[in-house]
Amino acid sequence: MREWLNDAIFYEIYPQSFCDTNADGIGDFQGIIRKLNYIKDLGCNAIWLNPCFDSPFVDAGYDIRDYYKAAPRYGTNEDLRQLFAEAHKRGMHVILDLVPGHTSDECKWFQESAKAEKNEYTDRYVWTNSVWEGFDGVDQIMGSIRGGTERDGACAANFFNAQPALNYGFANPDPAKSWQQPMDAAGPLATREAIKDVMRFWLGLGCDGFRVDMAGSLVKCDPDQEGTIRLWQDFRAFLDEEFPEAVMVSEWGQPDRSLRAGFHMDFLLHFGPSHYLDLFREEHPYFAREGKGDCRTFFDLYLHNRELTKGKGGLICIPSGNHDMIRMARTLDPEEMKLAFAFLLSMPGVPFIYYGDEIGEKYVVGLNSVEGGYERTGSRSPMAWDNTPNAGFSSAPKELLYIAQDASVREINAAAEAGDPDSLLNAVKELIAVRRANPALMDAGDFRLVELEDHSYPLVYEREQEGQKVLVVLNPSGQEAVMQTALPETAKLIYAQGGMKGKSTFARNADGRCIVPAASAAFYEI
Ligand code: NOJ
Repeated sequence: MREWLNDAIFYEIYPQSFCDTNADGIGDFQGIIRKLNYIKDLGCNAIWLNPCFDSPFVDAGYDIRDYYKAAPRYGTNEDLRQLFAEAHKRGMHVILDLVPGHTSDECKWFQESAKAEKNEYTDRYVWTNSVWEGFDGVDQIMGSIRGGTERDGACAANFFNAQPALNYGFANPDPAKSWQQPMDAAGPLATREAIKDVMRFWLGLGCDGFRVDMAGSLVKCDPDQEGTIRLWQDFRAFLDEEFPEAVMVSEWGQPDRSLRAGFHMDFLLHFGPSHYLDLFREEHPYFAREGKGDCRTFFDLYLHNRELTKGKGGLICIPSGNHDMIRMARTLDPEEMKLAFAFLLSMPGVPFIYYGDEIGEKYVVGLNSVEGGYERTGSRSPMAWDNTPNAGFSSAPKELLYIAQDASVREINAAAEAGDPDSLLNAVKELIAVRRANPALMDAGDFRLVELEDHSYPLVYEREQEGQKVLVVLNPSGQEAVMQTALPETAKLIYAQGGMKGKSTFARNADGRCIVPAASAAFYEI
């Protein structure tokens, strides 16, 4: 287990939209460096940077043209090295986005692979034997590139059509289709090594690890993902040997598989079986004051996964959001979000905060798609820093901004919130400080669900580590709730939010049971 993960709290940065220092309307590395103190002051000590490599940006940079070159619009490799160094100086870590599943169709690897003449890259991608043969019914292949190549064949595409799929082989190749190569064929093995080289390159320059894009889908025709699991075990062995401090977090959403595959952490996500959306985003999210939500299924699955992964060192991460999800502020208001953060920052695992969520930045409604964002575009608009033009994000003319900002940035911005003791930003800061000050709340602390009925409030759980026990009581609903669990006489309130603010403890009903105020959070040391 990498030591530095023990007290890590990540901040996800979408580089396009964080801070622009050269007035071209798009964020850059120097902008991130300029804002490192803000992130540190918030209490985050690690950063996940979305793809920042040379790309035609058909999919916001998840279509890499050159794995070894920083995208010029953000700066140079040297700027990136400086960013790593500046972060390290502040005791922070930076992980990059590794996109191992596909490249851009403008990548040299693909262009070589598309040549009729056999060469080093011929088997680097998944190709059929004839342009007339497609991928209908082949698992994990979303589209294809057909026609326009000298090579006779169709190339599998992983996400959008401009993202040809790299070849890691097929777990169960169809014997009638000779192009479905086994995982240990020369082409798939060479692809692995090529990606390891990319990892070596950036780790050598000072990055601390990777968030891995679509980690669960690299090996094709792999219904139980056992092939993909074996593949990542090999990557993990490579890291353990050459970069023992480096970490990998997977975009997989199935910790029972990803942690076995060797990932140090896995996200619960808006897709997959986790029921993550029930918390903050469904029509009736559990954290909404209307009080109609239900997170029982979420916890059933969460506990099941914890059981399966217990003691194995992997962490399950519950993010506030990410660049692919509709922002939490679309469904929850700032007061509701304070309770959502009370949950996120008191759960096990490593918290991930999506830039802007700490101030309740809005989802921008009605935007046209930018760089393959589609409905995700509204969650990717520039960070609101203050109430100067463009909310302090950029001094470019407004029309040049990478994505338009919401009108609310005049009130909802980091500077305004820093000066308001009741702001969401200050609530998040306080919660991070409380997490850090209490070992029970940290990543590896034990977790026990104490109270949660179907469609009911409050949610009560216990955390424990290093001899400290903390009881977390959350009642996001707008109605008072009665806690069935007895609160020990000696319990000490160490954090209070919403309806509990200013109170020294819970009031009792006639049976002596605790009354949990509407819309409140309370952490007790017990
Ligand atoms: C997941 C990324 O998070 C998303 O933004 C991207 O479009 C797809 N993978 C394809 O790489």
